[in-house]
Parts: sequence; structure tokens; C-alpha cells
Amino acid sequence: MAPIPSIPQKVTRVTIGPRAEGSEIIETQVKAATGTNAPGEVELDATGQWVAWVPKEPSRPLDLSDGREFLEDGWRGAGARLVRRIGKVVDGHPVRAKKHIVQVHLPEEFTPANVRSLVIGLIVGNHSFITTNKRKPARVRDVHIVLPEGYEFDGFDTNDYVAAVNEGKALGKATCLSRDLANAPANVKSPEWLAIQAKKAVEDLDGVKVRLRDAGWLKDKGFGGILAVGGGSSRPPMLIELVWDPQKVDQRRRRRTAVLVGKGVTFDTGGISVKPAAGMDTMRTDMTGGASVIAAFRALAEQQVPRKVVALIPAAENMIDGKSYRPGDVVEHYGGLTSEVTNTDAEGRMILADAVSYGAKKYKPAAVVTVATLTGAAKVALGLRTGAVFSDNWGAGVKLARRGAIVGERWWPMPMQEYLEENVTSKIADVRQTPKGPGATTAAMFLRRFTRGVPLIHLDIAGPGRAESTYDEVTPVGTGFGARTLVQWLMH
Ligand code: BES
Ligand code: ZN
Ligand code: ZN
Repeated sequence: MAPIPSIPQKVTRVTIGPRAEGSEIIETQVKAATGTNAPGEVELDATGQWVAWVPKEPSRPLDLSDGREFLEDGWRGAGARLVRRIGKVVDGHPVRAKKHIVQVHLPEEFTPANVRSLVIGLIVGNHSFITTNKRKPARVRDVHIVLPEGYEFDGFDTNDYVAAVNEGKALGKATCLSRDLANAPANVKSPEWLAIQAKKAVEDLDGVKVRLRDAGWLKDKGFGGILAVGGGSSRPPMLIELVWDPQKVDQRRRRRTAVLVGKGVTFDTGGISVKPAAGMDTMRTDMTGGASVIAAFRALAEQQVPRKVVALIPAAENMIDGKSYRPGDVVEHYGGLTSEVTNTDAEGRMILADAVSYGAKKYKPAAVVTVATLTGAAKVALGLRTGAVFSDNWGAGVKLARRGAIVGERWWPMPMQEYLEENVTSKIADVRQTPKGPGATTAAMFLRRFTRGVPLIHLDIAGPGRAESTYDEVTPVGTGFGARTLVQWLMH
């Protein structure tokens, strides 16, 4: 087997407290930029201390809160750039690499929100996925944030800052796990491998039930969409089902069940409707929705969120073979609705439809949330840094988008439109798989046909699920987008 890192990988340790002393400490400082200092840079100052500049004033990015809940403070990016820069320093000092602690001093004024953003940047910005038998570059292992003693600002106390660090760690770790799963190469990452990783990710947690449904079970229960898409692969499809039930750890459940459904296409060739060769390699990350659902689920169960949370990840490899499904096929989904296949590359909705219907029927949740690298159309509309939110419950969709912005994941609302319903209807089956019209919208409307009336929030992350370059805490290729949004949204 390829020497791929064992997942979950270790992430940078972050602590907060009074100043630490020692010989292996690398002193750094976050400073508000004034005059000639450019925010976003990391520099060595005259005293031998590394300085990461943040903007003096926050900016108001694309967000749905009108700045009331969230302003971009630049701290996430500063944390990420800091660990990356110091990583290079540490890599040049093999002795130091093992024992060093990066100590971070804060500017005069800072809030728990700033510190949480910083911690996300420190953890996520430092995380990479490299498969090699050679020596890997050293990276920052320990970061200590200095909380000046007796510090109080705006009524915040030490507990608020410790809580902010813990939250930042949980959020950062969720992104790292999602990224590692997304970046794993598809020769290793079969549907079964993904299922085993999901099980491994939650095996230390009480109150979590894991059900790994194999192809035989899926056939028995009528999951025609998952079986059709997975049919062309020598590695059979699976359905991963994870349940967190707070009552199992004697905790009263305070809110209604949420079902999270993540697209788990471990490789998307397009199938018989084959994709062009250029860029097909990145389709190993076509299970990022599933990865983010697994990672968020782990974080939520670990923090014992007071509601039942179900994660469903239909996992399949979309390949070309004598057993592949074809354009023109009619497929019967879980629950009995049929769809007319018109393009085998629209495989995501085929597998999600089964899982949505199953989740809605079995768990009767307050909402079903789908997370998927679903359409090139969403990527064209919003670019690589913004996810698309579709919802038939606007309040819920906007709330989720705001929670995402707070933790550094941007979203923008998109419509489902009544006049397109006729396009989603097939002449020879119940639903047409690739309706005419706006592609991201009709995909969302296709999924809505399978919800049994349960409110749907659909997140299309085809754009932000992948990155082509490094910026802020984001690194190429798989970004793990969506994991932090789900955690922040369901925790609060
Ligand atoms: N996985 C792709 C969507 C995608 C495209 C993700 C580019 C990331 C980057 C999905 O399975 C797909 O191929 N969708 C088709 C649907 C079409 C055939 C209706 C698309 O968007 O072209
Ligand atoms: Zn596809
Ligand atoms: Zn796909």
C-alpha cells in the first residue's frame, strides 16, 4: 500500500496561558498593522522576533449578516502564515525541530473571536498531506499563546479565552480530518476504505453508533441510485451511517434531530459520459462533502452536542465498465421514486437521493442537510472560495451561512424556482436526472424530490471544495470546506 499518512494525522498542539520560559522557544507576535507594515506579512524584526501583521480594522467581506455577526479580522490568515513561515525556520534547524515551542504574543487589544480565528489558522494552515518514504519537512508542533496575567478586556476573562482556544482546536481539527480524507489518493481510497476511516474516526467516542452498509444490504433495501453509480467499479459501493445520540450518554436531548448527508464519490471519471482527461485527477476529492460530514460529526459527538445527529455518506466510485450504468437507464431509488438517467456524470445526485430518502424516513429529522461537490455550475457561478446554499427554509439557510462566515467559510444563497419543476419531471420516470436550466438549481430541486417533506438545506461545494493555490489557511488541493460550518452551526 502507498505510504499514506495514518488518518487522523497529528495536528499542531495549541495552548494558552501565562508566558512560558525555555531555551527552545521561538518568540512571535501578532501586531495590528500601521503605516508601512502590510497586513498579511510575516517578518523578522530588529529584536529577532517574528511578527505577523493583522489589519488594524476588520473588513466586511461577502457575508449575509450585514457585519453584525461577523467581520473578517485577518487573524486566521495571520496564524496560518505564521506557522508556515516558522515551519521553514524550524526545518532548517533539525535539533530545534523536535523540541521547539512557538510562543505567540498578542497585540494590545484582542477578543475571544480573534483568538479562535488565530487557532484555526495555526492548526489548519500548518496541515499537509504528503505521501513519501523520504524524510518529510519538519513543521511547527507546539504553539503557546500568551495570555498576559490579569488581562481583562471588554468584560472577557481567562475562561472565555480558554474556551475560544478549545473551540478553535475542535474546528481546526475537523477541517484537517476532512482534508486528509479528501486528499487521499483514489487507488487507496475505495468506498470501503472511506467507511473504515469513518469508523476509525469515531471509535473512541461514547454514544456513537456505526453502521457500515455493504452492497448486499443496499440491494436488499432497494438503494438503486448508489448501486447504479457504484456498479462500474471493481470496488463495491457502501453506505456509511453514523448516529450520535446524546441520550446514550445519559444526556437529555434538547433539540431536534439533524441528518447530514455527504457525497462520497471516491473517484469521478464521469462514467460512460466520461470527463475530459485534463483535471480528472482532482476528482479524487469528489467525496469532500462526505469527508466534511464525517469530520463535523466527529467534532459534534466529541463535544456532546445536545441533539441527535445522523451522518449518512453514500460512497461509490464512478467508473467505466461493462457493468456501468448508462444514459437512458431508469433507476429506482430507495423509497420507490424512479429517475431517468441522462448523463452518468451527474452521479452525485443519484447516490444522495437514496440517502436523503432513507434519512428522512428513518430519522424524521428537523432538517436534512446535503453537502456535495455537486455541479460545475455552482463553481462557475460563485468561484473557488464561496459555497452555494439552497434551502426551502430561508431562515435556516441564512443562519447556516452566517455561522459558516464566523469560522471562515463563505456561503451565498441560491434559489430553487417553481417554474423549473416541470424540467425536473421526466416523461418516462418520476424525475429527470439532468433537467434543462440552471444546473446548480435544478440539481438542488432534484434532491428536494426525495425529502418526503422534510426541510432541505443543500450545500454545493464544487467550487470551494478544492483550491488551486495557497491563501489564508487554505492549501491545495482538497480544502475540507464545509466541516467548520456544520460544527459551528449545530453547536450554537
Ligand atoms: N463532481 C462533479 C462536479 C464538479 C465539477 C465538482 C467540477 C468540482 C469541480 C459532478 O459529479 C458532475 O460531474 N456534475 C456535472 C453534472 C452535469 C452532467 C449535469 C457537471 O456539473 O458538469
Ligand atoms: Zn460527475
Ligand atoms: Zn461528481
